[in-house]
Amino acid sequence: MIHYRSLGFVNTRVMFSVAVRAGFAVPAYNFNNMEQLQAIVLSCLETQSPVIIQVSKGARDYADRTLLGHMAHGAVEMIKREAAEKGLGEIPIALHLDHGDSYDLCVSCIESGFSSVMIDGSHHAYEENAALTRRVVDFAHLHDVTVEGELGVLAGVEDEVAAESHTYTRPEEVEDFVSRTGVDSLAISIGTSHGAYKFKVGQSPRIRLDILHEIERRIPGFPIVLHGSSSIPQDAVETINRCGGSIKDSVGIPEEQLREAARSAVCKINIDSDGRLVMTAKIREIFARKPEEFDPRKYLGPAREALRDMYARKNREVLGSAGRAPEIMTALVGIQYNREVKNE
Ligand code: G3H
Ligand code: 13P
Ligand code: ZN
Repeated sequence: MIHYRSLGFVNTRVMFSVAVRAGFAVPAYNFNNMEQLQAIVLSCLETQSPVIIQVSKGARDYADRTLLGHMAHGAVEMIKREAAEKGLGEIPIALHLDHGDSYDLCVSCIESGFSSVMIDGSHHAYEENAALTRRVVDFAHLHDVTVEGELGVLAGVEDEVAAESHTYTRPEEVEDFVSRTGVDSLAISIGTSHGAYKFKVGQSPRIRLDILHEIERRIPGFPIVLHGSSSIPQDAVETINRCGGSIKDSVGIPEEQLREAARSAVCKINIDSDGRLVMTAKIREIFARKPEEFDPRKYLGPAREALRDMYARKNREVLGSAGRAPEIMTALVGIQYNREVKNE
């Protein structure tokens, strides 16, 4: 068992309590490779934002779970060094399993150094979801790992058509679910969806903030998570299509609506597709402009810079997480101090 603390990660508890109180959301950005990971952590250092770096089951298979774990640990070490060299404060980093679909996967991640896991039982019937989530929480909390559960089903994204048929979270179920499972945060379904095709062009994109507010009324101060929160930058889509790609018309979640959600109970916002689009747009643009280029550093490097700019802007303008790291670091140092005093 490798405990996440020995790798320099933190769980999400303090991040979320500060986020709920101060009205911002912690960015949860997915990564599958080195360039994405660098862009995420460096943008968060630069903006002094807390960050959740998240890994899906697919990412774990793609990059190899052992290598991915070492990369994440390496990112913490790199940020410590960069912070010291640039005279910046360190930032809290959580390593999170995104959409864990089984107890065994969650246990495997916890045993290899994850500080937070999601158990996504949202496709099961309510009772089954609650029982599975409770089982994961019981194991995770033995190791002070935080757990995200989910109630309600986000619409699927199939055949590149705009998502339809959400099963919105039922506010009347959340109190029971949260108290029975002991989860630390709850992902809800209020009209966001995964992937690049969320709303059709011409449809007015709107998430159900009324459901969010009703949930907040029933479990005040409890950390809420929004998945499927990419905004699908139209300039990246245009660049991709101009440079030989084919992304059909699609609209994402308007940034003002995410900002409004972040001001209330939403304290973690998941973004993956926006990064994929920005990275692909930059690589396609370089290939179109310089067809002779074949050094991966010459296209992956600029793609990494474009990603970094995009994440820094999200932190500043959408999530409101920029400048929030010092407050969280101070609270964490107090907890560490109390733990040491107790153990003496
Ligand atoms: O919610 C899904 C994330 O965007 C991860 O996607 O399973 O293709 O890695 P993935
Ligand atoms: P997007 O596809 O909207 O980026 O959502 C990502 C996500 O929810 C990861 O869990
Ligand atoms: Zn998701």
